[in-house]
Amino acid sequence: MAKILGLMLSCDPRFRQTLCEEVRTQQGNIQISTVSPGVLEVDRLEGNAQLLTGLLENTPLFLRHVFAIHKTSPIDSVSDVGAAACAVMPDDLEGYKVGVQCRVLSESVSYRAIEVKQYLDESIQGRGGVPETKEPQFVVSLVIADKAYIGYSTPSANLTRWSGGAVHYGAAKNSFSRAQHKLEEALEVLEVDISRCKTALDLGAAPGGWTALLLKRGLNVTAVDTGDLHPELLKHRNLTYLRQNAFDLRLIRNSLDIITCDMSWDPLRTAQLVVDLSRALRTGGKLVLTVKFMGQSPLPTVRECLSILRSSFVFKRGRHLWHNREELTLYLEKL
Ligand SMILES: C[S@@+](CC[C@H](N)C(=O)[O-])C[C@H]1O[C@@H](n2cnc3c(N)ncnc32)[C@H](O)[C@@H]1O
Repeated sequence: MAKILGLMLSCDPRFRQTLCEEVRTQQGNIQISTVSPGVLEVDRLEGNAQLLTGLLENTPLFLRHVFAIHKTSPIDSVSDVGAAACAVMPDDLEGYKVGVQCRVLSESVSYRAIEVKQYLDESIQGRGGVPETKEPQFVVSLVIADKAYIGYSTPSANLTRWSGGAVHYGAAKNSFSRAQHKLEEALEVLEVDISRCKTALDLGAAPGGWTALLLKRGLNVTAVDTGDLHPELLKHRNLTYLRQNAFDLRLIRNSLDIITCDMSWDPLRTAQLVVDLSRALRTGGKLVLTVKFMGQSPLPTVRECLSILRSSFVFKRGRHLWHNREELTLYLEKL
């Protein structure tokens, strides 16, 4: 494999400093330069391969996407960038599905990302490969900024199959479908397998995007909210709707396979509530929890929540998802 010249990290621009803090805490005081507000370049000289392994194994909460930079090039024309990207791809791509993920961040170029993709798609076909957007086996990643940063890898070595971590499941027409996409992304990115789950408790369920997704996946759902669920959902035979304060809930022991919680409430009190309700969760049962920052510093807030949650749960993964705003999503399992 070609030498790694550096790593390109992507995050929500609002949490750039937070990501830098996380990376430095984990990896030591390394040089991080800003390519654009949500895109950072890291270079640990001879240690880039180990740095990548470290970030993939112990992924910072605010890191959405990473790629190893194998080549850089001038950005003057599509053919400059395209020819450089062709040089990082293997000559023989027979039968492989290859994606081109190009982000143009420079305002000084006159071409668009789609033109770079078209150039490279032709080259992929010329090598026997199949251009693929949704489920590629390999990805050519390009960031066009002060220069072109180019890498070639599997999607898992980028943390995600989505370009820059920008997850698109289709247009979110309203808060209902946006919420649904947030849980869908959490299940995919945090690798939460709910295929064997039968019973769910959804706390802070209204208007009902998460509940709708859980019902669609075949679970029996108890949805709890002081507010109104979408009227369409109320007809569903696998739904129990409790219109009440979640802090007043009384549940049957070991009756649940998963608790989901997207409640807009104080994060520490919400974490304690989930711990109190965890008696209803079977051992190994899952928890998907949104930690709302509520104006507090993100990392200390998440650390405090985790220290509460660890009395009943083991932490699996967490991420500031594409569909998260001033919050992030955690996945834990009951001890
Ligand atoms: C961001 S919304 C949840 C969106 C939901 N996940 C969906 O898919 O549509 C937050 C919800 O938490 C609810 N909530 C806040 N505090 C609550 C409490 N103490 N008990 C029950 N629901 C609460 C609010 O009424 C609100 O509907």
